[in-house]
Amino acid sequence: MKLAVWDPGEPFRRWRDALMQHAGELGLAVEVVDATAEPDAQADFALVWKPPADWLAGQLGLRAVFNLGAGVDAVLPAMHACAPDVPLLRLEDAGMGRQMADYVAEAVLHAYRRMPEYAAQQARQQWAALPLPARGGFHVGFLGLGQMGLAAARRVAAMDFPVLACTRSGARRDGVDPDWPLVSLERLDEFLAACRVLVVLLPLTRHTAGLLDWRALQQLPRGAYLVSAGRGAVIDEHDLLELLGDGHLAGATLDVFAREPLPADDALWRHPRVRITPHVAAPTLVGPAAAQVMRGIAAIERGDAPGGRVDPALGY
Ligand code: GLV
Repeated sequence: MKLAVWDPGEPFRRWRDALMQHAGELGLAVEVVDATAEPDAQADFALVWKPPADWLAGQLGLRAVFNLGAGVDAVLPAMHACAPDVPLLRLEDAGMGRQMADYVAEAVLHAYRRMPEYAAQQARQQWAALPLPARGGFHVGFLGLGQMGLAAARRVAAMDFPVLACTRSGARRDGVDPDWPLVSLERLDEFLAACRVLVVLLPLTRHTAGLLDWRALQQLPRGAYLVSAGRGAVIDEHDLLELLGDGHLAGATLDVFAREPLPADDALWRHPRVRITPHVAAPTLVGPAAAQVMRGIAAIERGDAPGGRVDPALGY
């Protein structure tokens, strides 16, 4: 069978070598082609990161498309338009959860240990100890509790911070601690009001785009800290800047933005209480991702359902 990889951000040979190795271990005979170099080659399975719609439209025999990342917002519109009946699968953790947990844990500790204020004091050469907030009252709220959110929430809970969460449905699933308060998006305001740190790890869908505007962010208690590492367009960045400016928000650690790369003239770059990273919280790891994709292909070959199937109606 033929696999086509579309991922301009990664040297093709890394994908090919990893896929061939895992195919061999599973006893599958595969040929792997670089779709960016051979766009006309017809494949049985496509492995993609942000592929152009016209390339997808030209792939006439696809049995499944594997998204080489957790979020599918960049590929779903092309799938709708060009391959509506082809199953779309996304990576399920594949080593990204631990990276996300690291990223979020660092940001939570940064906020808890009052590092934004110490940075301001350092700029004034000011030597002054600030009291620590009571840990038991320092609630960390997770907006979105998918693979990434759950991995990060568990880490933060293991650091003895009280965790709460808000998800689309509010339904509990495996791995969610029964002690964590969990509500649906209908109770977003109430959830936000309880967060000292808000960690945003929602997928970008038509329901979440612009969800955190001025009105919603205003529900956070004064002095709350924001961590955003899912998709930038969930947050209205203009409103965010306003709330940082008037001190309602103490600071923010931002990994994702409505426009990436973040334009050089964007005021977020220069805000003294904003830390910016270039969408690196949880990059795809080629080895674990290739292993998961090959296991998915093996499942399809056996007639089983592979994990990570995207529901196009929900958008994730
Ligand atoms: C990264 O943003 C991903 O969706 O995996």
